[in-house]
Amino acid sequence: MDIKDIIQSMKDEGHSPKRVHFNLKIKYGSVSEEALALIKEVFGLSDNELNSHLGWAPLNKDKAKAKHSLLICRSCHKENQDYLDALCALINIKSGTTSDDGILYFEITGCMGLCALGPNAVLDQKIYNKINDNPSFTLKLNSILEERKQI
Ligand code: FES
Repeated sequence: MDIKDIIQSMKDEGHSPKRVHFNLKIKYGSVSEEALALIKEVFGLSDNELNSHLGWAPLNKDKAKAKHSLLICRSCHKENQDYLDALCALINIKSGTTSDDGILYFEITGCMGLCALGPNAVLDQKIYNKINDNPSFTLKLNSILEERKQI
């Protein structure tokens, strides 16, 4: 099944363009320009319509070439900005960039469509819910931050 078939099948299942984009990002770590063009084609969208659908994901270039990638939903933190600020300070990478050591790509996104389970993040293509109280997320993130210190 090629990428166009995958997009078509997600559309047929009733997924929105935003959800299709999110699913591709989870599956492949990034969404290529080719995949974006195919989302537009399959859904019959103009550039502006696609951008409007993907409002949370303006950084969807092929940037996730780092060893690890971390996406955090900003919208989940409307009520708890302090937690997001502390996390950003800990990570210490500008959103939409990869650390100089090539270890971690970091991006703050808009809503991922999983609000009831938030605050949400996607770390190495795996979705983590309630990251402010999720030992698995904390353990995995700490191991990556430790890895960065070893360089
Ligand atoms: S507000 Fe974060 S997933 Fe919807």
